[in-house]
Amino acid sequence: MAEIGVIGGSGFYSFLSDARVVEVETPFGPPSEPPVVGEVSGREVAFIPRHGADHRFPPHRVNYRANLWALRHLGVRQVLGPCAVGSLTSELTPGTFVVPDQFVDRTWGREHTVYDGAPVVHVSSADPYCAAGRATVLAAGNSFHDEHDGQVVDGGTMVVINGPRFSTRAESRWHAAQGWSIVGMTGAPEASIARELALCYTAVAVVTDHDAGVEAGEGVTQAEVFAVFGRSIDRLKGLLTEVIGQLPKPDADCSCRHALDGTAGEGRW
Ligand code: ADE
Repeated sequence: MAEIGVIGGSGFYSFLSDARVVEVETPFGPPSEPPVVGEVSGREVAFIPRHGADHRFPPHRVNYRANLWALRHLGVRQVLGPCAVGSLTSELTPGTFVVPDQFVDRTWGREHTVYDGAPVVHVSSADPYCAAGRATVLAAGNSFHDEHDGQVVDGGTMVVINGPRFSTRAESRWHAAQGWSIVGMTGAPEASIARELALCYTAVAVVTDHDAGVEAGEGVTQAEVFAVFGRSIDRLKGLLTEVIGQLPKPDADCSCRHALDGTAGEGRW
């Protein structure tokens, strides 16, 4: 019913043409909202607003498992996860898009796995993002960059904090000192649950601020984050529209699809 999934801000509702709501029941309870399925760049896309249509779920209350399971149930193989992040370096300025290649999960107390009992399943998360998905975003970003402001940056480590508060200056300086480049609140466990469901997942992070420990950062406010994200949404939709047209076709093989090979989870979903 859909081949590509997008989990992002509610601004993406207007992204889809011929959109219809598809109710999905999941083993993990309801998703943030029933998925909306429609067409983008000639591809069938399912969209779920991560925080709910009215932004009622803070990052630690998002039902990541249900959102991803619902997309998988609809036939999705490639997931794009646009999200807002703070920058931990003075070089990554607000408005920049980053395609991270690693994350560090500093969240706690979240339902972070679909394998919460027997059978015991361990998946690799050495390279947590889909190589093909990342390459597609970066290629689209190169051509996109010529016409629009803001770079699409290849790689970087996203540290994911529990929120909903922003980091203290000491935490932020510590994150930067580790060499991590961006900080967000939703990138985990979203990416790792996608991997547990053998989905391809690509994060597209929009830098909205300099985090509190960065030289240029005065301290972050919610208003600043929302304002910069709002100003970036049209560019982000433009980029993702191109990306969606160029993502591998659903029958293309990918190592993400083999995440469960040789485990007790093989063939489960
Ligand atoms: N999302 C956007 N900006 C952020 C920041 N500075 N820290 C954590 N999450 C964010």
